[in-house]
Amino acid sequence: MHVVVVGSGIAGLTAAIRASAVHDVTLVTKGALADGATARAQGGIAVALGADDSAALHEHDTHVAAAGSADARAVDVLCTDGPARVRDLLALGVPFDRSTDPTTLDRYCDDLARGREAAHTRWRVLHADGDATGAAVERTLVAALHRRHVTILERTCLTDLVVRDGQVVGIDVLDLLGEPRRLDADAVLIASGGAGHLYRETTNPLVATGDGTAAAWRAGAVLADLEFVQFHPTRLAVPDGGLVSEAVRGEGAVLRDATGHRFMTDVHPDAELAPRDVVARGIAAAMRTQRGLPVLLDATGLDPDFLVGRFPGLTRATRAAGFDWTREGVPVAPAAHYAMGGIATDTEGRTSLPGLLAVGEAACTGVHGANRLASNSLLEGLVFAVRAADALGAPRPGRLRLRGDATLVPTVVPAVVDRTGGATRPGPDAPVRQALQSVMTDHVGLLRDAAGLAGARAALSGLSAPGPMTVRDAEDRALLDLARLTALAAEARTESRGAHARTDHPDTDPTAPATNAWVTATPAPA
Ligand code: SIN
Repeated sequence: MHVVVVGSGIAGLTAAIRASAVHDVTLVTKGALADGATARAQGGIAVALGADDSAALHEHDTHVAAAGSADARAVDVLCTDGPARVRDLLALGVPFDRSTDPTTLDRYCDDLARGREAAHTRWRVLHADGDATGAAVERTLVAALHRRHVTILERTCLTDLVVRDGQVVGIDVLDLLGEPRRLDADAVLIASGGAGHLYRETTNPLVATGDGTAAAWRAGAVLADLEFVQFHPTRLAVPDGGLVSEAVRGEGAVLRDATGHRFMTDVHPDAELAPRDVVARGIAAAMRTQRGLPVLLDATGLDPDFLVGRFPGLTRATRAAGFDWTREGVPVAPAAHYAMGGIATDTEGRTSLPGLLAVGEAACTGVHGANRLASNSLLEGLVFAVRAADALGAPRPGRLRLRGDATLVPTVVPAVVDRTGGATRPGPDAPVRQALQSVMTDHVGLLRDAAGLAGARAALSGLSAPGPMTVRDAEDRALLDLARLTALAAEARTESRGAHARTDHPDTDPTAPATNAWVTATPAPA
């Protein structure tokens, strides 16, 4: 069969490589192959390989971070399949860091070095080139892809799925010349990542505009858990500043407010290594008391040679921003980082639409619940991409067990959600992206309440994106679709849970469903 894979991060590359052994595969990606989020991943890949660790412990930590909302079967698959998939990466040649330092043997598995990040009870995060794990993984997978018979279409942007008789039969794209083109397929596998650009500040690359997720929704696929957006606690708070890995805190760096106080010790017993949503909100609260000024990540307690050797990329980045982090704190603030929600799938990547599969950040298996455990995303991309590739061509079960099942009957999004936007282009002084990012950041961000969410819904429904003529137009339409759906999902969840924090409903409601599902009322015509 002919399979079109959309996206070229760890999930898309892994799926394309695996599927190409059996199927005819075309891989479509919006930028160059390595432009996505994978190549930026710093901390590493979480996997239970050590003698002191087990899939059960990894599952436990994943559930705790997920605020008890993760899907138990998906988590079991992730943590159980994980070690074999990471061995696949080792066999392909990913240069994970190694050491045999006898003084810290508990941190090594065989000779593989293991890092630690928030909410992990074991040292289990494998890393490469210190803090450039994603780049090493991406490089290795791209090299492997080039050894396969896969047609690669770079600078090709997905605009819509083609649905015929309820089956996905291809995709519409803008090709590298910006011309519309249709690619026929027996199956389409979306691995196009998240939508960090819903927000003003994000750790995500420029390409992360949710194109695949929005196209799936417009085609009638069920989406789930959109209200759960993870904010990474520590983005370097300088213009265009990037991620500062949680692994730095894992090695002992602490967070201080403007007075030098280590405020996270007042917030959670695990302080800087509390679950990511807790640390992000702790930083935001500290920032509110100091007129919005960023807090400081203080790594001066670490041995300077160790710090520079362990985090060479971050040493360069902080130096370029004018800081010597061996001697002073660096300013950090939370930023949009990861979408826990996405296209609802089962543990084989199947979606509610026949012919459509989804894996990686674009998918929602339920594995992350309301808050993803650090460094589980590369593992998710690997594990579920292999399972989805293996499911291609297999008979589709009569009854799928999708994330969102708990509330299916899915909620039909009210018709007020305009699927394609109006014909009016926004004026030059009010670009739609800037406007939606302001609304999302101010009202659908780290802290939410009913009045803000209702205002966000109204403001977003007043925005329109042009039909997709350019890649930028297509991205803006996707972002606007997802902004509206995310605001609706956040409004519908009248409780706080994981990354979804409502100041007007601060407690978790034990009777609330762990998952929200959203489906379009009227699937797009072929
Ligand atoms: C980090 O290195 O802090 C990011 C890792 C992740 O998002 O899982």
